[in-house]
Amino acid sequence: MRSPKCILVTGGAGFIGSNYLNRLVPRHPEVRFVNLDALTYAGNLENVAGLTDQPNYSFELGDITDSVLVERLFDLYKFDAVVHFAAESHVDRSITDPTTFVRTNVDGTIVLLQAARNNWKAGQGLFHHVSTDEVFGTLGPTGLFTLNSPYAPRSPYAASKASADHLVRSFGATYGLPYLITNTSNNYGPYQFPEKLIPLVLNNARQRIPIPVYGKGDNVRDWLFVEDHCAALEIVLFQGSIGSTYLIGGSQESSNLGLVKALLDVYDEKTGQASGHSQSLISFVQDRAGHDFRYAIDSSETQKELGWSPQHSLIEGLKKTVDWYMKHSSWLSNILDDSYRTYYKSQYDNR
Ligand code: NAD
Ligand code: DAU
Repeated sequence: MRSPKCILVTGGAGFIGSNYLNRLVPRHPEVRFVNLDALTYAGNLENVAGLTDQPNYSFELGDITDSVLVERLFDLYKFDAVVHFAAESHVDRSITDPTTFVRTNVDGTIVLLQAARNNWKAGQGLFHHVSTDEVFGTLGPTGLFTLNSPYAPRSPYAASKASADHLVRSFGATYGLPYLITNTSNNYGPYQFPEKLIPLVLNNARQRIPIPVYGKGDNVRDWLFVEDHCAALEIVLFQGSIGSTYLIGGSQESSNLGLVKALLDVYDEKTGQASGHSQSLISFVQDRAGHDFRYAIDSSETQKELGWSPQHSLIEGLKKTVDWYMKHSSWLSNILDDSYRTYYKSQYDNR
């Protein structure tokens, strides 16, 4: 069991990063957590508002590509670990604007790696890169991503995350940087920005506007409730074997159409509507370019080594998610500003 004293958490105001900090900060008062986040459209201080009074938490506004700032923070806080969430994370945005993804996900990662290399002797410190199963590309109707799956990213987002994975491993091999990589399937739950499928469906259902399903809705994703993901990341941080890669998934596969229908059933039930009330909002739209058909990940080795397993079935996670979004309608309303409306129009008008 390792015992880091001061951790730089990048992107801790985003969806997964904030769930991670909200879990770990109160559970580990002996560890200082410094959240470095640029507060892009996806970052939101409301997500971590409950942490501001915690003595072992601080927030630093800044960009991970700013090497002067990152060096200054290493100097100030003497980090002995980095947990790296900060990224551009939405595949559709990477199709429209790939350059931004290379800037944050590749250039930003190397700035952090260089700071770790400059400030830690070989073999000291810990760099945990939070990555995605999309680096492995797309599956057919059967099979699972495993630790032996070759890298085969197909979207600019996936390619940028694959590049970051490669850079992390190269710093391990070349400079002796102690690292951990986690590759995880589709997360959902509290604080997810309504560009991703599940919160977008809930937001549109709330507004009674069409719910866009790409193609025929037969693409498949493996859904993992974000609290289960953060529980796994916590164990990886304290107990993961240096130089290892851990695959983390929910083993809860669904076609997109099946997922949207199940989610709307939960939504109708919780809002007191007749069964099937919202299904008519489903609208099939032009497919995503290069749309990966299926993701599914084999996390059995992670489960065996770390004693972790996901605690939520898809339906339990969807119920908790609907409850959360219903209770936090002002969180959602605050996000639905002009920039969200512009984004939504650019993606979905005339699609
Ligand atoms: P998100 O888009 O919700 O949050 C990203 C956060 O990073 C935001 O707070 C944003 O402000 C910050 N950020 C972006 N660019 C920055 C920069 N240049 N400098 C500093 N901060 C910056 O993302 P998420 O869904 O929470 O994903 C977090 C990480 O987990 C990402 O690395 C993503 O690739 C990975 N991941 C996500 C999923 C998923 O299903 N969401 C699954 C597997 C892996
Ligand atoms: O697999 C892990 C990845 O999961 C993460 O690395 C990414 O950061 C995260 O965004 C997610 O990627 P996806 O592209 O799978 O997630 P998204 O929510 O965008 O889409 C899920 C599926 O739903 C996908 O097949 C596309 C489809 N979709 C999505 C949207 C936004 C629709 O049919 N309609 C939509 O409006």
